[in-house]
Amino acid sequence: MTRVLFIASEVFPLIKTGGLADVAAALPAALHKRGVDIRLLLPGYPSALENAGSLKEVMQFNDPLGCGQTRLLETNLPGSGVKTWLIDCPQIFSRNGGAYQDPDGQDWHDNHLRFGLLSYIATLLVSEHGQKWSPDIVHANDWHAGLAPALVSVAKNPRPATIFTIHNLAYQGIFAPEVADHLDLPADIASSMEFYGRLSFLKAGIKWADAVTTVSPNYAQEILSSENGCGLDGLLRERAPVLHGIMNGVDYGIWNPETDTYLTHNYGPGQLSFKSACKTALQNEVGLDHDEAAPLVGFMSRIVHQKMPDIVLEALPSLIETGKQFVLVGDGERQYEDGFRAMQERYPGRVAVRIGYREDMAHRLLAGVDVLLHPARFEPCGLVPLYAMRYGTVPVGCRNGGMVDSIIEGSPAALRNGTATGFFLETETAQGLRDCMDRVFDLYRKPLLWRKLQVHIMQRDHSWAAAAKAYDGLYRSLANPSNDLEAPLLSKLSA
Ligand code: ADP
Ligand code: GLC
Repeated sequence: MTRVLFIASEVFPLIKTGGLADVAAALPAALHKRGVDIRLLLPGYPSALENAGSLKEVMQFNDPLGCGQTRLLETNLPGSGVKTWLIDCPQIFSRNGGAYQDPDGQDWHDNHLRFGLLSYIATLLVSEHGQKWSPDIVHANDWHAGLAPALVSVAKNPRPATIFTIHNLAYQGIFAPEVADHLDLPADIASSMEFYGRLSFLKAGIKWADAVTTVSPNYAQEILSSENGCGLDGLLRERAPVLHGIMNGVDYGIWNPETDTYLTHNYGPGQLSFKSACKTALQNEVGLDHDEAAPLVGFMSRIVHQKMPDIVLEALPSLIETGKQFVLVGDGERQYEDGFRAMQERYPGRVAVRIGYREDMAHRLLAGVDVLLHPARFEPCGLVPLYAMRYGTVPVGCRNGGMVDSIIEGSPAALRNGTATGFFLETETAQGLRDCMDRVFDLYRKPLLWRKLQVHIMQRDHSWAAAAKAYDGLYRSLANPSNDLEAPLLSKLSA
């Protein structure tokens, strides 16, 4: 049985700011089901400790990195029961605010320590503590855990193999060079992380891990180019022989309209009239005019530049003035939040804006809207469009990243042969969005064809099984290098 230590900065339902939390809960659960002995490690933010239920102290650390009293608390992840370790370190985690930012939206001044400690503790678990359980694989996610593959590589011999997964190359964890001293980094690690005179946690992960993965096959290709490599494409090209694109999945135990307890009505592909009832309930809940005939468009993303809120804002008036309704649930950058609030004031009853992400509303939005707007300037995977499909909600995205792997454009031919799964903007502009919506609503006006598309996307299987099999294969090949990696995993990159 492969033993895996899975490190992430957020895990649903303990703490969540985006898709990483969903993956860090669902992928370990799927691996656990396959018989992998997997354990999670994450920071003990106050909300995570609170949401964790019963916690048991399993270890104490003596002032690690000068962070004061620190303990490891153990719980079973609600939902899957995967064994989970939280790092309880009041000096750096016990504060009001978010996982990465203070209440004013500024990055915490000591993020290098908050996340440096995450990797540092992982390394102690692997090496010094002489505990009964020690992993064969350390699987670190995103920049927050980027130091782990580096520190593990120099900590112990023989050492566990390491995997680093990039969920988003645009977030890099870049700090002043002085943090190397605060983090006690060996000189070779510090120099390997140099990024234009500063230090990059993300670069450490990519550089030191035995294998690097990212969250869709197409994104794995894209990041090798200077256009999409965020300054790391040279290093990524060097690491291409060990870089794998593995498409994320969907946890249908959570995102499934047939069983979703947040909905007023449950439904499957044969009961779409109940989806209409969810639409009416959503219109009531958010204060939209009760108008069954009005096409309802939803937006449910982190409201940040990546997700093109500027373009959505620019295109919105023409959508509304041609009879559509719009609902948004989410939060993000202040200037865009204000822009959407202003739209709600300008179009009362036609535009509803709920700033502040809420899990229950996210589910009701996906069930109640006809179309999910999910444009993005780049999108490593894009879970929300996959969730939308299960709810019979047609996704609209851009032709990049994981969207290319999951959306098949609703061209006349693809609609005829039943393979279409959504629509793409042809250009990343407001005009591109308006043109795309014209195509979408041409189809919407043909109820039989629209229903056929809805039924098809609801029946697609994007469950975690395929990805878990791929990661399991990768773990085995790293834990025991004589096991050849299954060819399909590598095919796309080596082709
Ligand atoms: P990303 O990880 O880039 O945000 P994904 O589509 O992969 O995009 O995953 C988004 C996840 O985060 C979904 O579970 C969604 O419900 C949730 N989500 C969407 N908007 C927000 C928000 N503003 N704050 C927190 N979580 C959000
Ligand atoms: C990131 C990406 C998103 C991906 C998610 C989970 O935040 O922006 O595309 O789905 O991580 O891997």
